[in-house]
Amino acid sequence: MEPSPDTGSADPAGYYRPDPRYRQEAWLKDYSAAYESFLADREAFWEGVAGELDWYARWDAVCKWDYPNARWFVGAKANITVNCLDRHLAGGRADKTALLWRGEGGEERRFTYRELATAVNRFANGLKSLGVQKGDRICIYMPLVPEQIVAMLACARIGAVHSVVFGGFGSAALGTRIRDADATLVITADIGLRRGKVIPLKEIVDEALQSAPGVERTIVLRRADPPMSLSPREVDFGSLMEAGGADCPPEVMDAEDPLFILYTSGTTGAPKGIVHTCGGYMVGTYYTAKTVFDIKDRDLLWCTADPGWITGHSYVVYGPLAAGASVLITETTPDYPDPGAWWKIVQDCGVTIFYTAPTAIRMFMRFGEKWPEQYDLGSLRILGSVGEPLNPEAFEWYYHVIGGGCCPIVDTWWQTETGMIMITTMIGEPMRPGYAGRPIPGVEAAVVDREGRPVPPGKSGFLVITGPWPAMLRTVYRNDERYREYWHTIPDCYTTGDLAVQEEDGYIMVLGRGDDLIIVSGHNIGTAEVESALVAHEAVAEAAAIGKPDPIRGNTVKAFVILIEGQTPDERLTRDLQALVRRMVSPVAVPSEIEYVDALPKTRSGKIVRRVLKARELGIDPGDISTLEV
Ligand code: WT7
Repeated sequence: MEPSPDTGSADPAGYYRPDPRYRQEAWLKDYSAAYESFLADREAFWEGVAGELDWYARWDAVCKWDYPNARWFVGAKANITVNCLDRHLAGGRADKTALLWRGEGGEERRFTYRELATAVNRFANGLKSLGVQKGDRICIYMPLVPEQIVAMLACARIGAVHSVVFGGFGSAALGTRIRDADATLVITADIGLRRGKVIPLKEIVDEALQSAPGVERTIVLRRADPPMSLSPREVDFGSLMEAGGADCPPEVMDAEDPLFILYTSGTTGAPKGIVHTCGGYMVGTYYTAKTVFDIKDRDLLWCTADPGWITGHSYVVYGPLAAGASVLITETTPDYPDPGAWWKIVQDCGVTIFYTAPTAIRMFMRFGEKWPEQYDLGSLRILGSVGEPLNPEAFEWYYHVIGGGCCPIVDTWWQTETGMIMITTMIGEPMRPGYAGRPIPGVEAAVVDREGRPVPPGKSGFLVITGPWPAMLRTVYRNDERYREYWHTIPDCYTTGDLAVQEEDGYIMVLGRGDDLIIVSGHNIGTAEVESALVAHEAVAEAAAIGKPDPIRGNTVKAFVILIEGQTPDERLTRDLQALVRRMVSPVAVPSEIEYVDALPKTRSGKIVRRVLKARELGIDPGDISTLEV
């Protein structure tokens, strides 16, 4: 479609109306009609979507809902890689680009669907040759290179359960995740590259493995020259792949078999291993990739998330590949070698669908229009946002400066737990800056009070999902009680943990987290993980972390620390504590401020009340503090 020139101003009611041709050409043309047909027969709606995919055996029932446990496509058999790969080989996409990778220096690697399928089959056979079996847990800790995706798909091919850990995590965070999942194998690379600097991934793995004795082997992708030497229990990624035959028959998976575990930071204690299953996740991500991003065969989709996050699982890997898209991936950071780096990629590669986070958009706003202006962004046709509220200023900038006033923006609300996009403004529908939009057809969401009663339009309340959906989490790994909590906090619905406002027109504005998570640059940081890193220091007695609003990063972390008697604070200690958090948790979690205090506000049961610290910090009323100790 030739983009129409558009000055792109909102109508008097505040809505932006996309060019009508978007709606005419969209897969899902009529939001209201689709939503009504879903409400009229929910099972028939999802059955229609599932029918577009290949299965070994059909379902006996679309959904069995035994509150709060759902089973989807009961009795059906499938393998997600058949839908991401084989289906396209048979369907005329064998020579179509599946993956296009760009390195920091502009170098490219391209995989057609046929080449990607061959690589996945070979690596899957390699995994089998090491004794990996259906149901085994495999930890993938890799940089953003095609092999990371090959490793994920190879696990799925043979029914092994992958647990991808973002390559930016430190050794303690990696170790916890390996142990919790009982992983027996780790797939990693010698190094990652970031801003021209080398990240010693393999060293971090070695450190993590000291506390994870269950791991029998490590597969290492060797990128450095000369190649690093390997110990007898380490296997070279490339040789394993070469030795594997090019045909690995897919494991026939039950729709409810687990596909992967993905850890997300919790409010207390250890991170939660969110479990997603083969059938429902496949249907949910395929449907949303296809209809929310309106993927057509000519599109090149660039979702800037790392596959180590759910956004990457669902909209770099499984959803777009199931929809037969061409996907761009890159190890490049947005401001290296300069703040035009990403716009150069859009121009050079002809990206048509661009999906990123508000924190990146706000960073680009700060660098100024002079960077995107240097590049031709005319290939773009759809823009997306995820991870945090897209504030109206950022919407306007994204819409005008990047989208040239004519690309619809899909502000997509969802979570690791939901697996797929749940709330957005479908292509062609009027957009309202500051509002993600309405629940997509297939999803029922509401804004309610603590008892689950809907709050009136315009009033804030808890964002909940009121019925099951195919890509929903099935449990929290080895913690089913935590799973049930999601469904028993507010009666009869799934509690998202977010606060929101819904207006008369049904549009939902997400206000942010209602609990103890801090979202920094789009990454969920559990207050507990930061605090436990700080407390690991010998001088520290107690610590509390809060998020402070920040115009660029959404939030920054501020820590309050009580020192052990006799210890005195100084700049050096602050630097040591910051380094500790960097190493144990991640660079994004590093507190930008550390304040040394003598006491922390606590409940009688000893739970630190972070909201009081936060209220004090921001100079607002902390509310009822009569039950607190301090
Ligand atoms: C939390 C989930 C799922 C993708 C990345 C994050 C926040 C996500 C939006 C949005 C406002 C959003 C919510 C949510 N969030 N998308 N479009 N508008 N807030 O996944 O790490 O599981 O975090 O991210 O607070 O609960 P996650």
